[in-house]
Amino acid sequence: MATAAEYGLGPIAFPRGWFMVATSEEVTSVPSSVRFFGQDLVLYRGESGAAYMVDAYCPHLGAHLAKNTSSFVIKDNKHVEGECIRCPYHAWRFGPDGKCNEIPYSPARPPEAAKLRYWRVEERYGCIFAWHDAEGGVPDFNLPVISQWDNPAYLPWEIDHLGDLPCHPIELIDNMADLAHLAPTHGSEPSDYFSNQVRGVELWQLQAARNRMLVNHGALRTDTYYTGPGILISRFNGGQGIMFITHTPVEDGSLRAWHGFIMNSGNPAPGEAEREMARQASAGSLAALAQDFEVWANKRPCFDPLAVLGDGGFSKVRAWYKQFYHPRADAERLQKLANGTYGARGTPAAPEELLRELAG
Ligand code: FES
Ligand SMILES: [Fe+2]
Repeated sequence: MATAAEYGLGPIAFPRGWFMVATSEEVTSVPSSVRFFGQDLVLYRGESGAAYMVDAYCPHLGAHLAKNTSSFVIKDNKHVEGECIRCPYHAWRFGPDGKCNEIPYSPARPPEAAKLRYWRVEERYGCIFAWHDAEGGVPDFNLPVISQWDNPAYLPWEIDHLGDLPCHPIELIDNMADLAHLAPTHGSEPSDYFSNQVRGVELWQLQAARNRMLVNHGALRTDTYYTGPGILISRFNGGQGIMFITHTPVEDGSLRAWHGFIMNSGNPAPGEAEREMARQASAGSLAALAQDFEVWANKRPCFDPLAVLGDGGFSKVRAWYKQFYHPRADAERLQKLANGTYGARGTPAAPEELLRELAG
């Protein structure tokens, strides 16, 4: 396990961006504790159904807002009221504006300092995403749009929990440039083409290859992109399948990851046969990811890849990744340094029309 500073990523330990923090079903009216970005946090759902993420510790005497089963606040069913959360210790209550709005035993108005941090949260695709910015700024980019999600021929995914990895997320980001692992790790034939494109907060990989796991199958074309540092989407064959991999820093140097996969069943009213097909496709996608995971779970940190001719542009994807570890005022300068299209010697570049599609 190595830290952002040891990788030379920048002055900020945890990157700016949107990150998954839970699946939708994990967030209920019973507050639960999670830990991300080196911080203890609490998730809960208000009566309206809206999901909230707050700092875990009460500003009064520092009680944990979720880790309690014995207080009468919990027993009397007063833990969550409306959209508010009540501390199990002295029953102070906080609302989504972050303010304490009730101290049951005190005739005085709650002091200004009685504030709880509510994180910016969005719920989409069966997942809860939170915006993290060490500088406290509002989002400067949006969550990715998965247009296929609303198409009834695509059954919703069942998110796979991949657990925690004692590995800095940069080791996963490297995969975007890692043309040379596709054959030995995943069983690909030599790629028909391979390009990376860096575009601001997006990092793309365009690639196509046959694979020995997919017999009687032409080349699998994958258009894969990160939207910010933690959310990867890969479109298989122009969107017939959509792979989703997302990872969120836990400590500085470790992460939690999830996987999902949806596919076009070809049937706008999918039944059990399509459901089974989707399950198998998702399991296949997960098995391919597991080949990477086994490496990541056991490797030592790589501060400076020993790249050779034929490797993809590790230095370019790392240059892209650095923007999220710098103050926002520096991000544009770093983006300009990283922006561009990069290939690997010995492998054709992605077709012009594909690259043009991205630019459009
Ligand atoms: S510690 Fe939370 S109300 Fe006192
Ligand atoms: Fe891989």
